Amino acid sequence: MKRPYVIINCAMSADGKIASPTGHQLRISNEEDIKSMYNLRNSNDAVLVGVGTILSDNPKLTVKEQYVKNPRNPIRIILDTHCRTKPNSLAVDENAKTLIFANEECDKKYGDNVEIIQCGIDSEGLIDLEEMLEKLLNYEINKLMVEGGSTIIWNFLKQGFVDDLFVFIGPVIIGGKYTPSMADGEGITKNENIVNLEVVDVNKIGNGILVHYRLIK
Ligand SMILES: NC(=O)c1ccc[n+]([C@@H]2O[C@H](COP(=O)([O-])OP(=O)(O)OC[C@H]3O[C@@H](n4cnc5c(N)ncnc54)[C@H](OP(=O)(O)O)[C@@H]3O)[C@@H](O)[C@H]2O)c1
Repeated sequence: MKRPYVIINCAMSADGKIASPTGHQLRISNEEDIKSMYNLRNSNDAVLVGVGTILSDNPKLTVKEQYVKNPRNPIRIILDTHCRTKPNSLAVDENAKTLIFANEECDKKYGDNVEIIQCGIDSEGLIDLEEMLEKLLNYEINKLMVEGGSTIIWNFLKQGFVDDLFVFIGPVIIGGKYTPSMADGEGITKNENIVNLEVVDVNKIGNGILVHYRLIK
């Protein structure tokens, strides 16, 4: 299968959580990690999130000039089967192009910078990642950064559509039985299905650690 190079980037607590127990954003990253995240965003053709992250965090998904000189905003991609992204979401503002992958006719009105792409669904009723990734090549998206959240990261890893994984581990504990972790979904029950990673590099950045993994295929 032909697809873009896929990099996952995420920040988690020392206990593997990526948000508060109610799914709201918490400060896990430090300044060094934020800078590294913006540089990574700037060097990719597109940045992808699930509609869950759009609804909970309302991220802009652009690159801040404060962190990157002469930023170029990559294309923003939202996986949104039922077109739940609100027209006033920051990720569809006029600052960059946005592609929304949906499986239904969208009754919402977005700006001219937003394109709705009809896409098939998988056995779980979610946007079919293989079809979506193949479609990205038509937009000259050859390098894709996936930022979350838990369900998106889980599905990319489970289906093996990942090349590199960058995890910033902040020196904080969040706890909570139902708090989102880096990869949620249904989880793996058999040894032979475990997603195996190779550690490429580990760096202490500020008060945290940035681990670069590669997926073993
Ligand atoms: N710390 C970090 O680095 C970081 C970064 C990003 C987000 N987060 C956190 O992550 C949490 C959100 O995670 P989440 O799991 O609720 O939402 P999510 O992963 O952002 O989005 C999941 C939703 O995307 C849609 N979707 C469509 N196709 C999909 C596919 N193939 N695979 C997976 N999802 C697909 C589904 O909704 P439909 O069925 O409606 O399409 C699904 O429920 C928030 O708490 C946020 O703060 C943390």
